[in-house]
Amino acid sequence: MTESNAALLELAASDLRMLIGGERVEAASGERFEVLNPATGETIATVPAANAADVDAAVAAARAALPGWRAMAPAARAELMWNLGTRIAELSEELATLEALDNGKTRGDALMVDIPLASEIFRYYAGWATKIEGVAIPTAGGLAQHVYTVREPVGVVAAIVPWNFPLLMCAYKAGPSLAAGNTLVIKPAEQTPLSALRLADLVEEVGFPPGVVNVVTGDGPSAGAPLSAHLGVDKVTFTGETGTGQKILEASKANLKRVSLELGGKSPSLVFADADLDAAVEGTYGAVYFNQGQCCIAGARVFVHEDVHDAFVEKLLAKLKTVQLGSGLDADTDMGPLVSAEQAERVTGFISAGRDEGATELAGGGPAELAGEHANGYFVRPALFTDVEPEMRVMREEIFGPVGMVSRFREEDEAIAAANDTVFGLASGLWTRDVKRAHRVAAQIQAGTVWINTYGFFDVAVPYGGFRMSGYGKELGAEALDPYLQTKSVWTDLS
Ligand code: NAI
Ligand code: MG
Repeated sequence: MTESNAALLELAASDLRMLIGGERVEAASGERFEVLNPATGETIATVPAANAADVDAAVAAARAALPGWRAMAPAARAELMWNLGTRIAELSEELATLEALDNGKTRGDALMVDIPLASEIFRYYAGWATKIEGVAIPTAGGLAQHVYTVREPVGVVAAIVPWNFPLLMCAYKAGPSLAAGNTLVIKPAEQTPLSALRLADLVEEVGFPPGVVNVVTGDGPSAGAPLSAHLGVDKVTFTGETGTGQKILEASKANLKRVSLELGGKSPSLVFADADLDAAVEGTYGAVYFNQGQCCIAGARVFVHEDVHDAFVEKLLAKLKTVQLGSGLDADTDMGPLVSAEQAERVTGFISAGRDEGATELAGGGPAELAGEHANGYFVRPALFTDVEPEMRVMREEIFGPVGMVSRFREEDEAIAAANDTVFGLASGLWTRDVKRAHRVAAQIQAGTVWINTYGFFDVAVPYGGFRMSGYGKELGAEALDPYLQTKSVWTDLS
């Protein structure tokens, strides 16, 4: 092994077995699969390959733990969750290294976004555990009845997690689930299972009762599919590809389990002529290329007013030319590798498609050959297209890689129509100094988030989630508790 020894030592410290019912276990089959470092293509670890038998065991453990977890004092649940958030914060450096090693993202990005937000989520929802309340309702008909509501957990939750923010996506789902009193089976993505297993260590360390949080590692067909079809699962919460979300919805129908879907996007960024152009370029760079473009919110369809189009493109191109590709563990790196060989191939396929369909390619995107130990890493140079047409594949399908498409507009209405010309509706950004325009346009964009003169900000208290084919069921904020709760109305006769 060639990548940073310190990183590998830290990796060796965590138990790379699943967590089921408070026990660290291998898969029932005894099989394991390889985990790669995308910056080198080398195998860095193996983890258990779960199948339906392991899913059965994990769901049974979560079911068995449910009565005890529900009965535990909310303040005691809150304390466990708070302590988990604190441990994540204390281990920031180690966890950031682990994410860089497993996903390819830069340590700097993980330290800025993934780890602090994951920690904050557990602490924020720890606060909610003691604040889940019903209401007393005076009946509209004036009946001699005393009616109150109770908000109960849905039961056993399956969290099917993607690879782009591995630990953070576990937290998105575990935070509100646990605060609401549910028990949990987490299935991390097969590309990036390491931080979920480290989370399992911390769950044990802070003393969650056995079975409240279970972690099974395995791929979509062998572990994700049986989990989403399992009759012992009451709710699935999923982040990933829209097509996979549709499969999960299909699989969930036998017991009508609740489903929350955080799916793909094709988000627009609008740059008006009066925008602070440097800020817009900086923000748009982040919107398109942050995390190697592997973000569901990537604002990769960029619409720029014709008066500033050329200046904008020139500045963005200049910025792209300074981007340093390399291992996420190297402090000089701006952009790490993509998560896997498949993803790199998929993204370079889109870059070729853009060229073939006649878009003008300004930055030379495509596979990058790095030297030495990184020669076999999954690096893709960032691409920037102009002269794109709405019907091109690069404008319609989620690319999930460092590829931006800039087109020009003249009228505000035209920009809004172009922004909404997608089946998705996850996020959007707009850049203007005109406050009236900002809110007029924000009102007309069909997306779950609109960022004005910024892009990509998240906060634990602010709900986030898609419109249209980007899914449903908000995450973060108070609203994210709702999908993990069900309301019971209790009537008492007073006549
Ligand atoms: P995916 O959606 O197939 O995988 C995400 C998770 O779902 C993983 O844990 C996977 O094991 C699981 N899964 C896969 N098939 C399943 C099934 N039939 N039943 C239950 N669980 C299943 O995404 P994938 O294949 O890794 O990436 C393909 C594309 O999906 C990406 O290029 C990107 O466009 C999109 N994607 C979007 C994400 C987002 O945050 N919106 C995150 C990851 C991928
Ligand atoms: Mg897939």
